[in-house]
This record gives sequence, structure tokens and C-alpha cells, in this order.
Amino acid sequence: MTMTQSQYFSQRVADFIAGFTRHNPVYTKKIVALAQGCPELFNELADPLLLWAENLLGKEYPERLFVGYEFFVTEVNQAQLAYETNKKYLYSSFSEVARHTYNSPDFMMLYHWGVYVTIFAWQHHLNIYKFFKERFLSRLARAKPGQIIDLGCGSGVWSLLTVSALPDWNGLGVDISPTSVQWAQKLAALTNFSGQCVFTEGDALLYHRQEPAQAGISCFLLEHLETPDKLLRNLHDSLVPGAPAFVTAAVSAAEIDHIYEFRKESEVVTMLEEAGFVVTDMLSSAPESFSRNRIFKPRSVAFVLTRKTNALW
Ligand SMILES: C[S@@+](CC[C@H](N)C(=O)[O-])C[C@H]1O[C@@H](n2cnc3c(N)ncnc32)[C@H](O)[C@@H]1O
Repeated sequence: MTMTQSQYFSQRVADFIAGFTRHNPVYTKKIVALAQGCPELFNELADPLLLWAENLLGKEYPERLFVGYEFFVTEVNQAQLAYETNKKYLYSSFSEVARHTYNSPDFMMLYHWGVYVTIFAWQHHLNIYKFFKERFLSRLARAKPGQIIDLGCGSGVWSLLTVSALPDWNGLGVDISPTSVQWAQKLAALTNFSGQCVFTEGDALLYHRQEPAQAGISCFLLEHLETPDKLLRNLHDSLVPGAPAFVTAAVSAAEIDHIYEFRKESEVVTMLEEAGFVVTDMLSSAPESFSRNRIFKPRSVAFVLTRKTNALW
């Protein structure tokens, strides 16, 4: 069976993989293996994300995604190698990182689309999507619909996936990068979700709304902050008591803009509990192909949470 013959792939997904393989056979090897290993799940996530990118970027969209992904993966590999040598992340201060990254439109343009592709193209991220759908969206589907706040929303994908699955919910995303917020707003408009999803520029540590939301998301933001505990307390204060939340974090995973090094899953759990959440479900997922000889094994962790009501601890 070749990639393009898979009965599970839409034409768009098959064309994207074939085009990416021609463009960069080395970087696509793992993506092809992943797509062949779980074609239904891969297609389920890749197809809408590619459609949304096409709506936004036009017919040049595969090229923009390839270039962004190459840039992002090269940055990640370099950062992880430096981490192995130095035994710590490259930067520890937010202002240093923000200068090179969030405040640089050139950097963010590539980074933004690189991160976007990893959502479906990395095995451990696809595992997180499955967990999100099965454990978090299913819980929202049983709850009374309302607003979901998404702190560090980036491209807005997690909010958009939520409202596309559960049209009675509406999303409010906040991100510090003007470039990412502009793309997220355009994406919502072009995919006809602008009535349901609003994206706004702001510091998620300080973002405050008068009316608390009924659910929360914060994906892959904690490790970008000097004080992730502050973000979790703000998420807690932004939600009604008993609200569900979905939070992810990178553990022992270096990237240029990762400044808070979580070394163990338990460190994230403790921080979540201290911020006022009960962990009701969790997943830790690592890239399968990662070399055993390396000191650090990068993982992505995801949590389904309940904002505490009146529990004592
Ligand atoms: C790895 S990306 C994750 C984006 C998105 N949540 C996702 O999972 O695709 C991290 C995002 O955090 C944003 N960010 C970093 N520091 C922030 C802060 N203090 N407040 C709001 N957003 C922040 C960055 O601009 C970037 O879009």
C-alpha cells in the first residue's frame, strides 16, 4: 500500500504527504511512518488542519507548511543537543526569549506554521490530540455549553477543534505574539468560526475577565514562562468552580523558547494541584524513536482537570 492509496486519507492529506516527501524526504520519513501506523487518526486531524491552512494561505499552503516545519524541527534538534551538553535550557529569562521569538515577526511566521504541523505530524502530539478528544471534549459534550478560555492559544487550533466538534461552545484565545494572534483571527474568519472564536493579544499571566469561563485550555505554554505557577493560578481564577480544563506541558524537552525546565511529570502535577485543580486524567507521551543514548527523554504531558470547588486539599 502506498501513501496515496490508503483508503483512509483524503486527497488533501495524500497530496500533502506526497508533496512533503518530494520536498524533504528526510524530515518526512517519520511522518509517513506515523500516517501509515494510524491512518484513521492521522487523517482525522491532518485533514481539517490542512483545509484550514489552505483557506488561510491559499494554494501555496503546502510550501509554507513545509518551510515552517523544517525551520521549527531544526530549531528543536539544535536546542535538544545543546541541552544534552549543557544540562539546562539555553535561556531562562522571558525577556531574552521574547526578543528573539514572540516579538520577531520573521521568526514567528516560520515558528507559527512549524508548531501547527507538529500538532498532527508528531506521534506524541497525535497521542495528545486523541486524549484531548476522548477525555476532554467528551466531558465538555456532557457539560452545559459556555465559554472556553484558551491561554497561549498560538494558532488557535485547540479552540477551533473544540468549537468545530461542539458548536454550542464558544472560544476566547489569548496570546502574547501579535503575529500569532493575527493569524488565529484570520483563520477563525476564513473557516467561518469568527462568530464562535475570538482571539486577542495579551499576556496570559495577567489576562483577566470579569466573567469567569465555563472551561479552560492552555496547551504548551507553561514551559515558556518564568512563573508557570502564576499562569495556573490565573487559569484557576478565570474559571467557574467545577469547570473542566485541559493543560499540556513539555517535560525535559528543550526548544529555543522553553525557559522553565520541568524534569518530571510529578512537578507539573504538584503545580496544578497547588494552583487549585484536581487532576482527573493524565497522559505522558514521548517520541518513540528518540535515541536511548541521550540523557534526556523529551515528553509531552497532558492533563484533564477540574477546577476545585470547596475541597480542602
Ligand atoms: C508552543 S506555542 C503553543 C501554541 C498553542 N497553544 C498550541 O498548542 O499550538 C506557545 C505559545 O505561547 C505564547 N506565549 C508565550 N508566552 C506567553 C504569555 N506570557 N502570554 C500569552 N501567550 C504566551 C507564544 O506566543 C506561543 O504562541
